Amino acid sequence: MRNAFLLALFLGAFFTLKAQEPNYDESKVPAYTLPDPLRMENGDEVNSPAKWVERRAEILKVFETQVYGKMPEHPKDLHFRVLSEDRYALSNMATRKEVAVYFTKDEQHYMTILMYIPNKRRGEAPVFFGLNFKGNHTICDDPDITESVTRMKPREGGSEKQPGTFKRGAESSRWPVEMLIANGYAVATVYRGDIDPDYDDGFQNGVHPLFYGKGQTRPRADEWGTLSAWAWGLSCAMDYFVTDEDIDSKKVALVGHSRHGKTALWAGAIDQRFAMAISNDSGCGGAAISRRKYGETFSKVNRLFPHWFCENFKQYNDKEELLPVDQHELIALMAPRPVYIASAIDDKWADPKGEFLSGVHATPVYRLLGREGLNGTGLPTVNQPLMPGSIGYHVRSGNHDITLYDWEQFVKFADKHFK
Ligand code: GCU
Repeated sequence: MRNAFLLALFLGAFFTLKAQEPNYDESKVPAYTLPDPLRMENGDEVNSPAKWVERRAEILKVFETQVYGKMPEHPKDLHFRVLSEDRYALSNMATRKEVAVYFTKDEQHYMTILMYIPNKRRGEAPVFFGLNFKGNHTICDDPDITESVTRMKPREGGSEKQPGTFKRGAESSRWPVEMLIANGYAVATVYRGDIDPDYDDGFQNGVHPLFYGKGQTRPRADEWGTLSAWAWGLSCAMDYFVTDEDIDSKKVALVGHSRHGKTALWAGAIDQRFAMAISNDSGCGGAAISRRKYGETFSKVNRLFPHWFCENFKQYNDKEELLPVDQHELIALMAPRPVYIASAIDDKWADPKGEFLSGVHATPVYRLLGREGLNGTGLPTVNQPLMPGSIGYHVRSGNHDITLYDWEQFVKFADKHFK
């Protein structure tokens, strides 16, 4: 009797753990039907660019209220100040600027944009713009970058490390600044912790509390999580770019790796002033089709990072098929603007094939708007980028990272669309 009970207990635990293991077996991907981006909620067909504008609003609303969370308007007191400028940076190749974007009138809350602008250029420079993980001073060896600091009190036991603990240039392999400058591109970045620290702090330390109503202590179920806060911050930076005469604000390409790739896609969706979005290994909640349940799934991402998405999103844990949108529609929200999706073959957690397929399934929207996208059913050949039109894709050899190879493809893609 007792043995039978222990056996049942053991089997129960075994199958629970088994169910939590990520699926990496293509034959176990469930059959699924994707929501049709070209069909209105009332069943009407979307057959013209004008009708797409209506459909786009429907899709955007679902992502806003069920996935990432609604965000507030930009602050009325948003203002900027150039904190430093050096025209002879990187052996005279570039001008380095640091710009404060103040969220409040009292200047207590702000993010700092670090920019490098090529000195050799005709007119305004196109720019690659994205968040960094560890502080502005980590993107390159330049000793004059102001070290990022955390102005937000980290919570006891919070896992987010202070940017000061990271060495200058620690992330330089992920930011080939000199290569970008040599190709005529400016680079701009913000430390994500300036906007919202990346841990579950009950939404106390980032920008969220600046917008709480009376008595409110955390976002409502359909309001912004951390990914939305980051995207909102990027959109606030765009308000600055339009004022900077060195930058071509009509050629700002959002770029992000992993969680910042999810953010780049979402920022491109909410702010159509961004001319391009580049997702690198963004996976679940980024470019990967959720209904495939391959690698990371909703329940996994929500357990590991409960602060990223809005509270409503948690209802779809293990019920991906009930969410009225899938991630190909996030890609479609970029249309007709160019979007590039990059995967790494060994980064199975991010589901390379699912990332490719979201480009394929966003393509009908691009076609409706007179652009070309991607075709195919299986994963393309490794290290053979595809850029036939306004959606580009590559799967690189190797693991979860953003490398020089990835950036070289982003430059080729940007050259095609910006030059
Ligand atoms: C984790 C997380 C992913 C995320 C990645 C990253 O692996 O599960 O969703 O993309 O971190 O940001 O590096």
